[in-house]
Amino acid sequence: MSTDATPLLDVTDLRVAFTTDDGIVHAVDGISYSVMPGTTLGIVGESGSGKSVTSLTTMGLTRGRSTSVSGTIMFEGRDLLTLSGDELRQIRGNEIAMIFQDPLSSLHPFYKVGAQLSETILAHRNDSKAAARDRSIDLLELVGIPDPHRRVDQYPHEFSGGMRQRAMIAMALANEPKLLIADEPTTALDVTVQAQILALIAELQGRLGMAVIIITHDLGVVAEIADEIAVMYAGRIVEHADTKRLFAAPEHPYTWGLLKSIPRLDTPRNEELVPIQGRPPSLINRPTGCHFHPRCPYVSEEHKRIDPKLEPVPGDPEHQVACLLPASVRAEIWRGLKAGRPAEELRRLAVPEAAAAASATPWPPAEGGAA
Ligand SMILES: Nc1ncnc2c1ncn2[C@@H]1O[C@H](COP(=O)(O)OP(=O)(O)OP(=O)(O)O)[C@@H](O)[C@H]1O
Ligand code: SF4
Ligand SMILES: [Mg+2]
Repeated sequence: MSTDATPLLDVTDLRVAFTTDDGIVHAVDGISYSVMPGTTLGIVGESGSGKSVTSLTTMGLTRGRSTSVSGTIMFEGRDLLTLSGDELRQIRGNEIAMIFQDPLSSLHPFYKVGAQLSETILAHRNDSKAAARDRSIDLLELVGIPDPHRRVDQYPHEFSGGMRQRAMIAMALANEPKLLIADEPTTALDVTVQAQILALIAELQGRLGMAVIIITHDLGVVAEIADEIAVMYAGRIVEHADTKRLFAAPEHPYTWGLLKSIPRLDTPRNEELVPIQGRPPSLINRPTGCHFHPRCPYVSEEHKRIDPKLEPVPGDPEHQVACLLPASVRAEIWRGLKAGRPAEELRRLAVPEAAAAASATPWPPAEGGAA
Protein backbone atom coordinates (compact mmCIF):
# COMPACT_ATOMS: atom_id res chain seq x y z
CA MET A 1 0.00 0.00 0.00
CA SER A 2 1.15 3.53 -0.69
CA THR A 3 2.12 5.83 2.16
CA ASP A 4 0.68 8.82 0.29
CA ALA A 5 -2.15 9.99 2.55
CA THR A 6 -4.45 11.43 -0.13
CA PRO A 7 -6.41 8.90 -2.17
CA LEU A 8 -6.66 9.47 -5.90
CA LEU A 9 -10.19 8.04 -5.87
CA ASP A 10 -12.33 8.01 -2.76
CA VAL A 11 -15.74 6.37 -2.99
CA THR A 12 -18.09 6.78 -0.01
CA ASP A 13 -21.41 5.02 0.53
CA LEU A 14 -22.09 4.65 -3.18
CA ARG A 15 -25.56 3.38 -4.04
CA VAL A 16 -26.86 2.73 -7.53
CA ALA A 17 -30.40 1.46 -8.14
CA PHE A 18 -32.24 0.91 -11.40
CA THR A 19 -36.02 1.15 -11.68
CA THR A 20 -37.25 -1.66 -13.92
CA ASP A 21 -40.65 -3.18 -14.78
CA ASP A 22 -39.90 -5.97 -12.33
CA GLY A 23 -38.95 -3.68 -9.45
CA ILE A 24 -35.96 -1.74 -8.14
CA VAL A 25 -32.58 -3.40 -8.80
CA HIS A 26 -30.21 -2.52 -5.96
CA ALA A 27 -27.08 -3.03 -8.04
CA VAL A 28 -24.65 -1.21 -5.73
CA ASP A 29 -25.70 -0.92 -2.13
CA GLY A 30 -23.55 1.37 0.00
CA ILE A 31 -19.96 0.63 -0.90
CA SER A 32 -16.88 2.63 0.14
CA TYR A 33 -13.29 2.25 -0.96
CA SER A 34 -10.33 4.36 -1.92
CA VAL A 35 -7.44 3.95 -4.32
CA MET A 36 -4.08 5.52 -3.59
CA PRO A 37 -2.00 6.93 -6.48
CA GLY A 38 0.03 4.26 -8.23
CA THR A 39 -1.63 1.31 -6.45
CA THR A 40 -3.88 -1.50 -7.67
CA LEU A 41 -7.25 -2.43 -6.22
CA GLY A 42 -8.85 -5.72 -7.25
CA ILE A 43 -12.66 -5.88 -7.16
CA VAL A 44 -13.76 -9.51 -7.13
CA GLY A 45 -17.16 -11.16 -7.14
CA GLU A 46 -19.52 -13.41 -9.08
CA SER A 47 -21.58 -12.32 -12.06
CA GLY A 48 -24.17 -9.70 -11.14
CA SER A 49 -22.51 -8.56 -7.90
CA GLY A 50 -22.31 -4.93 -9.07
CA LYS A 51 -18.66 -4.74 -10.15
CA SER A 52 -19.27 -3.16 -13.55
CA VAL A 53 -22.04 -0.84 -12.36
CA THR A 54 -19.62 0.50 -9.72
CA SER A 55 -17.00 1.46 -12.28
CA LEU A 56 -19.43 2.58 -14.99
CA THR A 57 -20.92 4.95 -12.40
CA THR A 58 -17.43 6.32 -11.66
CA MET A 59 -17.14 7.12 -15.35
CA GLY A 60 -20.62 8.69 -15.40
CA LEU A 61 -21.93 5.98 -17.72
CA THR A 62 -24.96 4.81 -15.73
CA ARG A 63 -26.72 8.19 -15.69
CA GLY A 64 -30.32 8.02 -16.85
CA ARG A 65 -33.88 8.61 -15.84
CA SER A 66 -34.33 5.14 -14.37
CA THR A 67 -31.08 5.28 -12.36
CA SER A 68 -30.82 6.65 -8.86
CA VAL A 69 -27.34 7.27 -7.49
CA SER A 70 -26.20 8.52 -4.09
CA GLY A 71 -22.93 8.81 -2.17
CA THR A 72 -19.74 10.53 -3.31
CA ILE A 73 -16.97 9.62 -5.75
CA MET A 74 -14.13 12.04 -5.06
CA PHE A 75 -11.41 12.22 -7.70
CA GLU A 76 -8.69 14.78 -7.10
CA GLY A 77 -10.93 16.94 -4.95
CA ARG A 78 -14.02 16.81 -7.21
CA ASP A 79 -17.14 14.71 -6.69
CA LEU A 80 -17.61 12.97 -10.04
CA LEU A 81 -21.30 12.42 -9.26
CA THR A 82 -21.93 16.18 -9.31
CA LEU A 83 -20.08 16.98 -12.55
CA SER A 84 -21.87 17.89 -15.77
CA GLY A 85 -21.74 15.62 -18.82
CA ASP A 86 -19.17 17.91 -20.46
CA GLU A 87 -16.96 18.00 -17.37
CA LEU A 88 -17.08 14.20 -17.17
CA ARG A 89 -16.17 13.82 -20.83
CA GLN A 90 -13.03 15.85 -20.12
CA ILE A 91 -12.01 13.37 -17.43
CA ARG A 92 -13.12 10.20 -19.22
CA GLY A 93 -10.48 8.77 -21.53
CA ASN A 94 -8.06 11.37 -20.24
CA GLU A 95 -7.51 11.30 -16.47
CA ILE A 96 -9.57 8.13 -15.92
CA ALA A 97 -9.63 5.48 -18.63
CA MET A 98 -11.48 2.21 -18.77
CA ILE A 99 -10.91 -1.06 -20.55
CA PHE A 100 -14.46 -2.27 -21.02
CA GLN A 101 -15.72 -5.78 -20.35
CA ASP A 102 -17.26 -5.84 -23.79
CA PRO A 103 -14.42 -5.46 -26.36
CA LEU A 104 -16.86 -4.44 -29.11
CA SER A 105 -17.79 -1.30 -27.21
CA SER A 106 -14.22 -0.01 -27.42
CA LEU A 107 -13.00 -0.87 -30.91
CA HIS A 108 -15.18 0.06 -33.85
CA PRO A 109 -15.05 -2.64 -36.55
CA PHE A 110 -15.24 -0.16 -39.49
CA TYR A 111 -12.27 2.04 -38.58
CA LYS A 112 -8.56 1.29 -38.62
CA VAL A 113 -7.00 0.73 -35.21
CA GLY A 114 -4.62 3.67 -35.72
CA ALA A 115 -7.44 6.02 -36.68
CA GLN A 116 -9.31 5.09 -33.51
CA LEU A 117 -6.21 5.65 -31.39
CA SER A 118 -5.59 9.02 -33.06
CA GLU A 119 -9.17 10.06 -32.45
CA THR A 120 -8.83 9.29 -28.72
CA ILE A 121 -5.62 11.31 -28.56
CA LEU A 122 -7.05 14.27 -30.50
CA ALA A 123 -10.19 14.34 -28.34
CA HIS A 124 -8.07 15.53 -25.43
CA ARG A 125 -4.94 17.04 -26.97
CA ASN A 126 -4.23 19.81 -29.39
CA ASP A 127 -1.84 17.70 -31.49
CA SER A 128 -1.50 17.57 -35.27
CA LYS A 129 -2.86 14.50 -37.08
CA ALA A 130 0.69 13.43 -37.91
CA ALA A 131 1.76 13.68 -34.27
CA ALA A 132 -1.29 11.68 -33.18
CA ARG A 133 -0.44 8.98 -35.72
CA ASP A 134 3.15 8.83 -34.48
CA ARG A 135 1.89 8.53 -30.93
CA SER A 136 -0.51 5.76 -31.99
CA ILE A 137 2.43 3.79 -33.36
CA ASP A 138 4.37 4.38 -30.13
CA LEU A 139 1.38 3.20 -28.10
CA LEU A 140 1.01 0.00 -30.15
CA GLU A 141 4.69 -0.64 -29.57
CA LEU A 142 4.32 0.12 -25.85
CA VAL A 143 1.64 -2.57 -25.46
CA GLY A 144 3.78 -5.13 -27.28
CA ILE A 145 2.16 -5.23 -30.73
CA PRO A 146 4.80 -6.33 -33.23
CA ASP A 147 5.32 -4.35 -36.42
CA PRO A 148 3.29 -1.33 -35.22
CA HIS A 149 3.98 0.72 -38.38
CA ARG A 150 1.99 -1.83 -40.38
CA ARG A 151 -0.55 -2.70 -37.69
CA VAL A 152 -1.58 0.93 -37.23
CA ASP A 153 -3.34 0.78 -40.63
CA GLN A 154 -5.18 -2.48 -39.99
CA TYR A 155 -8.77 -3.04 -38.93
CA PRO A 156 -9.70 -4.67 -35.60
CA HIS A 157 -10.73 -7.92 -37.33
CA GLU A 158 -7.17 -8.30 -38.61
CA PHE A 159 -5.98 -8.51 -34.99
CA SER A 160 -6.11 -11.71 -32.88
CA GLY A 161 -8.10 -11.65 -29.59
CA GLY A 162 -4.97 -10.98 -27.56
CA MET A 163 -3.85 -8.24 -29.96
CA ARG A 164 -7.27 -6.58 -29.81
CA GLN A 165 -7.02 -6.61 -26.03
CA ARG A 166 -3.60 -4.97 -26.30
CA ALA A 167 -5.01 -2.38 -28.70
CA MET A 168 -7.76 -1.60 -26.19
CA ILE A 169 -5.14 -1.14 -23.50
CA ALA A 170 -3.24 1.18 -25.87
CA MET A 171 -6.46 3.15 -26.37
CA ALA A 172 -6.99 3.41 -22.61
CA LEU A 173 -3.40 4.56 -22.09
CA ALA A 174 -3.45 7.05 -24.97
CA ASN A 175 -3.66 10.08 -22.69
CA GLU A 176 -1.66 8.65 -19.78
CA PRO A 177 -4.54 8.39 -17.31
CA LYS A 178 -3.99 8.68 -13.59
CA LEU A 179 -6.47 5.87 -13.06
CA LEU A 180 -7.07 2.86 -15.30
CA ILE A 181 -10.18 0.76 -14.71
CA ALA A 182 -9.85 -2.67 -16.30
CA ASP A 183 -13.16 -4.58 -16.30
CA GLU A 184 -12.50 -8.31 -16.81
CA PRO A 185 -9.63 -7.51 -19.18
CA THR A 186 -8.68 -11.13 -19.72
CA THR A 187 -11.87 -13.18 -19.57
CA ALA A 188 -12.13 -13.94 -23.28
CA LEU A 189 -8.47 -14.88 -23.64
CA ASP A 190 -6.65 -18.17 -23.30
CA VAL A 191 -4.53 -18.71 -20.21
CA THR A 192 -1.16 -17.81 -21.77
CA VAL A 193 -2.44 -14.58 -23.29
CA GLN A 194 -4.25 -13.78 -20.01
CA ALA A 195 -0.96 -13.97 -18.15
CA GLN A 196 0.75 -11.77 -20.77
CA ILE A 197 -1.97 -9.10 -20.59
CA LEU A 198 -1.87 -9.02 -16.79
CA ALA A 199 1.91 -8.76 -16.82
CA LEU A 200 1.60 -5.96 -19.37
CA ILE A 201 -0.86 -3.99 -17.21
CA ALA A 202 1.44 -4.41 -14.18
CA GLU A 203 4.48 -3.35 -16.18
CA LEU A 204 2.79 -0.29 -17.67
CA GLN A 205 1.48 0.67 -14.28
CA GLY A 206 5.02 0.69 -12.91
CA ARG A 207 6.28 2.64 -15.89
CA LEU A 208 3.49 5.23 -16.03
CA GLY A 209 2.81 5.40 -12.28
CA MET A 210 -0.95 5.12 -12.70
CA ALA A 211 -3.43 3.63 -10.27
CA VAL A 212 -5.39 0.58 -11.48
CA ILE A 213 -8.73 -0.94 -10.54
CA ILE A 214 -8.95 -4.44 -11.92
CA ILE A 215 -12.35 -6.12 -11.93
CA THR A 216 -12.70 -9.88 -12.15
CA HIS A 217 -14.75 -12.86 -10.98
CA ASP A 218 -11.53 -14.81 -10.46
CA LEU A 219 -9.46 -14.19 -7.33
CA GLY A 220 -6.53 -15.92 -9.04
CA VAL A 221 -6.32 -13.11 -11.61
CA VAL A 222 -5.67 -10.40 -9.02
CA ALA A 223 -3.50 -12.46 -6.65
CA GLU A 224 -0.27 -11.32 -8.28
CA ILE A 225 -1.04 -7.76 -9.28
CA ALA A 226 -3.41 -6.19 -6.72
CA ASP A 227 -2.20 -4.42 -3.58
CA GLU A 228 -5.67 -4.64 -2.05
CA ILE A 229 -8.77 -6.67 -2.78
CA ALA A 230 -12.44 -5.84 -2.24
CA VAL A 231 -14.77 -8.84 -2.43
CA MET A 232 -18.27 -7.92 -3.63
CA TYR A 233 -21.45 -9.86 -3.01
CA ALA A 234 -24.95 -8.69 -3.96
CA GLY A 235 -23.92 -5.06 -4.46
CA ARG A 236 -21.86 -4.76 -1.29
CA ILE A 237 -18.27 -5.19 -0.20
CA VAL A 238 -18.23 -8.15 2.18
CA GLU A 239 -14.47 -8.27 2.73
CA HIS A 240 -11.66 -5.81 2.04
CA ALA A 241 -8.01 -6.37 2.82
CA ASP A 242 -4.44 -6.15 1.72
CA THR A 243 -3.94 -8.92 -0.88
CA LYS A 244 -1.47 -10.87 1.26
CA ARG A 245 -3.82 -10.78 4.26
CA LEU A 246 -6.79 -11.80 2.15
CA PHE A 247 -5.04 -14.90 0.88
CA ALA A 248 -3.33 -15.74 4.19
CA ALA A 249 -6.26 -15.13 6.52
CA PRO A 250 -9.54 -14.66 4.63
CA GLU A 251 -12.44 -13.89 6.97
CA HIS A 252 -15.68 -14.14 5.00
CA PRO A 253 -17.37 -17.46 4.15
CA TYR A 254 -17.96 -16.17 0.60
CA THR A 255 -14.24 -15.43 0.20
CA TRP A 256 -13.49 -18.94 1.44
CA GLY A 257 -15.82 -20.20 -1.27
CA LEU A 258 -14.07 -18.12 -3.93
CA LEU A 259 -10.68 -19.38 -2.79
CA LYS A 260 -11.81 -22.99 -2.85
CA SER A 261 -13.36 -22.62 -6.29
CA ILE A 262 -10.35 -21.28 -8.20
CA PRO A 263 -7.41 -23.26 -9.46
CA ARG A 264 -4.24 -21.75 -8.02
CA LEU A 265 -0.65 -22.65 -8.61
CA ASP A 266 -0.22 -23.52 -4.95
CA THR A 267 -3.39 -25.62 -4.73
CA PRO A 268 -2.26 -29.14 -3.86
CA ARG A 269 -2.98 -31.56 -6.71
CA ASN A 270 -5.19 -33.74 -4.56
CA GLU A 271 -7.26 -30.81 -3.28
CA GLU A 272 -10.66 -30.60 -4.91
CA LEU A 273 -11.99 -27.38 -6.41
CA VAL A 274 -15.40 -26.80 -4.89
CA PRO A 275 -17.88 -24.46 -6.57
CA ILE A 276 -19.89 -22.22 -4.25
CA GLN A 277 -23.29 -23.85 -3.80
CA GLY A 278 -26.42 -22.01 -4.91
CA ARG A 279 -26.88 -18.98 -7.11
CA PRO A 280 -26.34 -15.25 -6.63
CA PRO A 281 -29.48 -13.66 -5.13
CA SER A 282 -32.00 -11.42 -6.84
CA LEU A 283 -31.05 -7.79 -6.39
CA ILE A 284 -34.74 -6.85 -6.46
CA ASN A 285 -35.89 -9.10 -3.60
CA ARG A 286 -32.72 -9.54 -1.60
CA PRO A 287 -32.46 -12.13 1.19
CA THR A 288 -33.21 -10.85 4.70
CA GLY A 289 -30.41 -10.41 7.24
CA CYS A 290 -27.03 -11.37 5.83
CA HIS A 291 -27.52 -11.44 2.06
CA PHE A 292 -25.19 -14.43 1.78
CA HIS A 293 -27.17 -16.51 4.26
CA PRO A 294 -29.07 -18.78 1.80
CA ARG A 295 -25.73 -20.06 0.46
CA CYS A 296 -23.67 -20.00 3.64
CA PRO A 297 -22.78 -23.29 5.34
CA TYR A 298 -22.29 -21.44 8.66
CA VAL A 299 -25.64 -19.64 8.83
CA SER A 300 -27.59 -19.66 12.09
CA GLU A 301 -31.11 -18.36 12.75
CA GLU A 302 -30.05 -14.88 13.81
CA HIS A 303 -28.01 -14.38 10.61
CA LYS A 304 -31.30 -14.57 8.70
CA ARG A 305 -32.52 -11.52 10.64
CA ILE A 306 -29.44 -9.39 11.30
CA ASP A 307 -27.65 -7.60 8.48
CA PRO A 308 -23.90 -7.59 9.25
CA LYS A 309 -21.93 -4.36 8.79
CA LEU A 310 -18.51 -4.19 7.18
CA GLU A 311 -16.26 -3.82 10.22
CA PRO A 312 -12.55 -4.09 11.02
CA VAL A 313 -11.29 -7.49 12.07
CA PRO A 314 -10.19 -7.37 15.75
CA GLY A 315 -6.50 -6.46 15.90
CA ASP A 316 -6.32 -5.68 12.16
CA PRO A 317 -8.04 -2.34 11.41
CA GLU A 318 -7.08 -2.44 7.70
CA HIS A 319 -8.90 -5.75 7.20
CA GLN A 320 -12.70 -5.44 7.08
CA VAL A 321 -15.37 -8.10 6.96
CA ALA A 322 -19.18 -8.26 7.10
CA CYS A 323 -19.97 -11.48 8.97
CA LEU A 324 -21.72 -12.11 12.29
CA LEU A 325 -19.51 -15.03 13.35
CA PRO A 326 -17.04 -14.27 16.16
CA ALA A 327 -13.51 -13.73 14.83
CA SER A 328 -12.20 -16.70 16.83
CA VAL A 329 -14.76 -19.02 15.23
CA ARG A 330 -13.93 -17.72 11.73
CA ALA A 331 -10.24 -18.32 12.38
CA GLU A 332 -10.92 -21.88 13.53
CA ILE A 333 -13.12 -22.65 10.51
CA TRP A 334 -10.50 -21.29 8.10
CA ARG A 335 -7.83 -23.44 9.77
CA GLY A 336 -10.11 -26.44 9.27
CA LEU A 337 -10.82 -25.61 5.61
CA LYS A 338 -7.11 -25.17 4.93
CA ALA A 339 -6.53 -28.59 6.45
CA GLY A 340 -9.01 -30.00 3.91
CA ARG A 341 -11.97 -30.49 6.26
CA PRO A 342 -15.40 -30.21 4.61
CA ALA A 343 -17.65 -27.24 5.39
CA GLU A 344 -20.43 -29.56 6.61
CA GLU A 345 -18.16 -30.82 9.34
CA LEU A 346 -16.89 -27.36 10.30
CA ARG A 347 -20.42 -26.03 10.48
CA ARG A 348 -20.71 -27.23 14.06
CA LEU A 349 -18.10 -24.67 15.10
CA ALA A 350 -20.43 -21.90 13.98
CA VAL A 351 -23.88 -23.25 14.75
CA PRO A 352 -24.58 -24.58 18.24
CA GLU A 353 -27.60 -26.61 17.05
CA ALA A 354 -25.44 -28.36 14.47
CA ALA A 355 -22.89 -29.16 17.15
CA ALA A 356 -25.53 -30.68 19.41
CA ALA A 357 -26.98 -32.76 16.57
CA ALA A 358 -23.68 -34.04 15.27
CA SER A 359 -22.00 -37.13 16.62
CA ALA A 360 -19.30 -36.07 19.06
CA THR A 361 -16.29 -35.95 16.75
CA PRO A 362 -13.57 -34.09 18.65
CA TRP A 363 -12.18 -30.84 17.27
CA PRO A 364 -9.33 -30.27 16.74
CA PRO A 365 -8.74 -33.91 15.82
CA ALA A 366 -6.62 -36.09 18.08
CA GLU A 367 -3.00 -36.76 17.06
CA GLY A 368 -2.89 -39.13 14.13
CA GLY A 369 -6.43 -38.10 13.06
CA ALA A 370 -7.62 -37.77 9.47
CA ALA A 371 -6.47 -34.13 9.04
N1 LIG B 1 -29.13 -0.50 -16.76
C1 LIG B 1 -29.52 -1.46 -15.93
N2 LIG B 1 -30.83 -1.61 -15.63
C2 LIG B 1 -31.25 -2.58 -14.77
N3 LIG B 1 -30.41 -3.44 -14.14
C3 LIG B 1 -29.11 -3.33 -14.40
C4 LIG B 1 -28.58 -2.35 -15.31
N4 LIG B 1 -27.24 -2.48 -15.37
C5 LIG B 1 -26.93 -3.51 -14.54
N5 LIG B 1 -28.05 -4.00 -13.96
C6 LIG B 1 -28.10 -5.10 -12.98
O1 LIG B 1 -27.26 -4.73 -11.90
C7 LIG B 1 -26.64 -5.89 -11.35
C8 LIG B 1 -25.14 -5.70 -11.30
O2 LIG B 1 -24.65 -5.70 -12.63
P1 LIG B 1 -23.11 -5.61 -12.99
O3 LIG B 1 -23.04 -5.49 -14.46
O4 LIG B 1 -22.46 -4.55 -12.17
O5 LIG B 1 -22.57 -7.01 -12.51
P2 LIG B 1 -21.08 -7.57 -12.58
O6 LIG B 1 -20.66 -7.83 -11.18
O7 LIG B 1 -20.25 -6.67 -13.40
O8 LIG B 1 -21.32 -8.97 -13.30
P3 LIG B 1 -20.46 -9.70 -14.46
O9 LIG B 1 -19.38 -10.46 -13.74
O10 LIG B 1 -21.46 -10.61 -15.10
O11 LIG B 1 -19.95 -8.66 -15.38
C9 LIG B 1 -27.07 -7.05 -12.21
O12 LIG B 1 -28.14 -7.70 -11.57
C10 LIG B 1 -27.54 -6.41 -13.50
O13 LIG B 1 -28.54 -7.17 -14.12
S1 SF4 C 1 -23.23 -13.66 8.83
FE1 SF4 C 1 -23.73 -15.81 8.90
S2 SF4 C 1 -24.69 -16.23 6.95
FE2 SF4 C 1 -23.59 -14.31 6.74
S3 SF4 C 1 -21.59 -14.87 5.96
FE3 SF4 C 1 -21.40 -14.79 8.19
S4 SF4 C 1 -21.80 -16.91 8.84
FE4 SF4 C 1 -22.54 -16.74 6.74
MG1 LIG D 1 -19.34 -6.82 -15.19
